[in-house]
Amino acid sequence: MKTCYEYLPLELSYLVLLLGCGLAAILTIRPAKGNPVAHLHTILNPPGHTIEALLAARASANARLSRFLGLTNTFTDPSPTLHTAFRRTARVLLARFTARLPSFPSTSRTLLADLVECLPLELPFADFVQLATFILVSTTLLGAHVPPADWRAVLAVTHGINDLWTLSKRGCGPDAAARAQLAAVHAHLRRWLPEEHHAAPLDLVIPTYETTWRVVAVLIARGGGDGDTYAAPLRALFTAPTDRALCDAAAGVVREVLRLHPPVKRIARVGLTCRWLHSRTLPVFLRRLFSVTHIADVRAAHTSAVWGASAADFDPGRFDHGRLTPAQRHAFASFGAGPLACVAANDAPRIAGLIAGAVLERITEGDVMVRRGEKIGDRRGWDGWSVKKGTCVRF
Ligand code: HEM
Repeated sequence: MKTCYEYLPLELSYLVLLLGCGLAAILTIRPAKGNPVAHLHTILNPPGHTIEALLAARASANARLSRFLGLTNTFTDPSPTLHTAFRRTARVLLARFTARLPSFPSTSRTLLADLVECLPLELPFADFVQLATFILVSTTLLGAHVPPADWRAVLAVTHGINDLWTLSKRGCGPDAAARAQLAAVHAHLRRWLPEEHHAAPLDLVIPTYETTWRVVAVLIARGGGDGDTYAAPLRALFTAPTDRALCDAAAGVVREVLRLHPPVKRIARVGLTCRWLHSRTLPVFLRRLFSVTHIADVRAAHTSAVWGASAADFDPGRFDHGRLTPAQRHAFASFGAGPLACVAANDAPRIAGLIAGAVLERITEGDVMVRRGEKIGDRRGWDGWSVKKGTCVRF
């Protein structure tokens, strides 16, 4: 069946195209206006939208991640059935992780000791945190077997994820080098992950590891400053991961890191500028041309007026029991908001706190020393930070 655009004379087609390009340039990214918290909730939880529409808006915004990282999960696929199944799988992994919490300290101590033993005398801080987080997350959450002696291959994976993520933002498709890098990442992951993850090895690695390592990095960086104030509760939680009181004490530090350094700073959704454009008969290129990207600005919500004059300060005490106002609770969006919010919103802070605690224990024991750089980084930006092995490597 012919679609309407195929009947247009050639000149008119060009005119439509030019007009579209002009409009697209104006409409592509719609900036946030007014109250950043209200704006964020309007984008992530718009009134009257079906789950199908929300999933489609997210999948369109994340199409670059399936092209560059081979993702086939609910972040890139709009299927509601897949969404339910993916959330269920994540919940099962989290429940298994919680059931095995008592053995987390001994498993982690062994893995970290073996890792430190294999490493060179000095390495970049970000590399060390990526190694520790990847090995601990994939072992304790995803059921992988990653021998610490494979640390070079682990770095090939973690650097590969960072590189491909950065490349995916550049607008064009993956070139031969990017495709080869993804194939190498997949090959390493298939050696370590259980078989059920082999078809799309990054589908669960990205949501679990990629955000967590950056939270762990900031926790260690903050833990090393201001005496032992922020490190002590994380180390204590690591020694007794099931202790409710210790978990609460560490939660403030983790949540304040998530507020001031949210690993997911902007959440994108793509919609069409007019309702009639939703017609399936419209060719893909026109749908793309008339689509608009809405950005939910998490960082703006986390530093907005509701946090008061101290919004820019690092103050874990603001998360103390009973101190957070309802408006602040509403503004905290590290795990997104609405029906597509993170399934691990309750568990992820504990996971990040435990991994940071495990590394901080190694620092206190003198196995590794951290040399601080000028400023706290993010996915990149850890210049000047390094980790040096101490004299007592085994314990
Ligand atoms: C500190 C660590 C984490 C952060 C900051 C984080 C953040 C987020 C955010 C912002 C979203 C919403 C994305 C969107 O609206 O497009 C999300 C979704 C999701 N996250 Fe997390 N996450 C973390 C850890 C985890 C972990 C450990 C798991 C799995 C066990 C997980 C599983 C998921 C899943 C399955 C979704 C999709 C939910 C849905 O579509 O209904 N996340 N996460």
